[in-house]
Amino acid sequence: MSHKRPAAANAFEAIEIASRDEIASVQRQRLKWSLRHAYEHVPHYRKAFDERGVRPEDFRELADLAKFPFTTKKDLRDNYPFGMFAVPRTEVARVHASSGTTGRPTVVGYTKNDIETWANVVARSIWGAGGRPGMMVHVAYGYGLFTGGLGAHYGAERLGCTVVPVSGGMTERQVQVINDFKPDIIMVTPSYMLALVDQFRAAGFDPRASSLKIGIFGAEPWTNAMRQEIEQAVQMQALDIYGLSEVIGPGVACECLETKDGLHIWEDHFYPEVVNPDTGAPLQDGEIGELVFTSLTKEAMPVIRYRTRDLTRLLPGTARSMRRMEKITGRSDDMMIARGVNIFPTQIEEQILRCEGLAAHYEIELTREGRMDELRILVEAKPEHADEASRVAQADLLARHIKNMIGVTVAVTVTTPGTIARSAGKAARVIDRRRRC
Ligand code: DLL
Repeated sequence: MSHKRPAAANAFEAIEIASRDEIASVQRQRLKWSLRHAYEHVPHYRKAFDERGVRPEDFRELADLAKFPFTTKKDLRDNYPFGMFAVPRTEVARVHASSGTTGRPTVVGYTKNDIETWANVVARSIWGAGGRPGMMVHVAYGYGLFTGGLGAHYGAERLGCTVVPVSGGMTERQVQVINDFKPDIIMVTPSYMLALVDQFRAAGFDPRASSLKIGIFGAEPWTNAMRQEIEQAVQMQALDIYGLSEVIGPGVACECLETKDGLHIWEDHFYPEVVNPDTGAPLQDGEIGELVFTSLTKEAMPVIRYRTRDLTRLLPGTARSMRRMEKITGRSDDMMIARGVNIFPTQIEEQILRCEGLAAHYEIELTREGRMDELRILVEAKPEHADEASRVAQADLLARHIKNMIGVTVAVTVTTPGTIARSAGKAARVIDRRRRC
C-alpha cells in the first residue's frame, strides 16, 4: 500500500489535499452548523436530541459527535414523505426516493445549493478516477427517482465532460451508442457492465476494442476479483464510487486512479464514523464495522449519524489527504448465516471468480431445511466451458473453494450461459426462499 503525497495539481479541489488539521477544522465548524440546523428545523432531531439530553452547543470537538443520537432508515420512513426536511418545501429544488422494496420508500430532498454540492463531489470523484474536461461520459445508471443517473450526470457536466444520458436498460442500444459515440468513460453498476460485455460479444464486437478507458462503478457491492474481470474484459480502468440517497447519492466517496486502494471519502461534506453494528459503540479507524455518516453542509435534509448498514473500515488517506474506506464487504442485512457461519455475497463472488470456467453472473438461493439455512449457488459457465462435463467439474471446484475459504458446505449448480436474469441496475444476488419454505 503506498502512502505517497499527492501532487498538488492532481485534485479537483484544494481541500482534497489539505492538511489533516485544516480538514478537521472545517469539519468542526461545519458540524456545529449542521447539528444546529437539524435541531432547529427538523422536529425529529429536536425530539431525538432532547430525549438524549444533548444540545447542539454540546458539540465542541469531533469526538463529541458520539454523544448525539443515531438516525436510521426507520426514522426516515416514519417521517415519510417530507418530515425530515429542514427547509420549506418551496426551497426544495429536487426530490429523489429509494425504491422501497421493503416497506415505504424513503424520500430525500435537495436545495439548489445541495445540488451544487452534489455536482461538485461527483466531479471530484470523476476527476479522481481519471476523468478530465472534454471527455465523453456514458451514464447508464438509471435516471429517475434513483440518484444514480442524475447524480452522475450533473457531476460529469460540472467537470466539463460531454454527457450521454442513456440511463439503464435497452442493452442492445447501449452497445450501439458506445460503438457510435465512442465515450471515454462509463458510469454504471458493475453487474450491468458485465451484461454490456455479453452484449458486445453477442453483437460480434470485442469489448476490448471499444473506446471505453475508464469505468466508474458503484451502487452495489463488488470485489477486487470483479475489478480484474472487468478490466480484462474491456481493457479499462475500473474504479469504485460509493454513495447513498440518504447522504446525497453517488459521490460520497470514490477511488483515485493513482492508487486504486479504497475510496476517498469527501470528508469536508460527509463526516464518517464506523461503529459496532450491535452496540453502536464507535470503533477506531482500521476496525471493521458499520459505516455512519453525518452531513456537514446539506441544507434540505441534514442527516445526523445516519446508520448505513454498510460494513467497512476507515483507513488513512493516500492519493488524497481525506480518509479512505475499504471496499464495502456487504450490508449487514445481506449477511447470511449458514451452519453457523456468517457469509456475505462478496465472499462467494471472490470464490466464483477464482474458477476459470465461471462467469460473474450468479445468484445465491437461501432455503430452510428444518431449522437449518441452506445455501445454493447458481452460477453461469463461460461459453467456452459450457459443456456438461466442464460444468460438473466447475461446480465441484467452486464448492471446494467455498468449503476451504469460507468454511461452509454449499450446493452449486453451474448453468449454461445466459440463464441467470440480468438486471439493468443493482443486481439482486440473494434470493431468500426461507419464508415460503
Ligand atoms: O446506490 C447511490 C449510488 C449510485 C452510488 C450510483 C454509486 C453509484 P441507494 O440506492 O440509496 O444509492 O443505495 C445505497 O447501495 O448503502 C450500499 O449498500 C450500496 N452501495 C452504493 N455504492 C456502493 C459501492 C445509491 N460502491 C446503497 N459498493 C448503499 C458497495 C454500494 N455498495
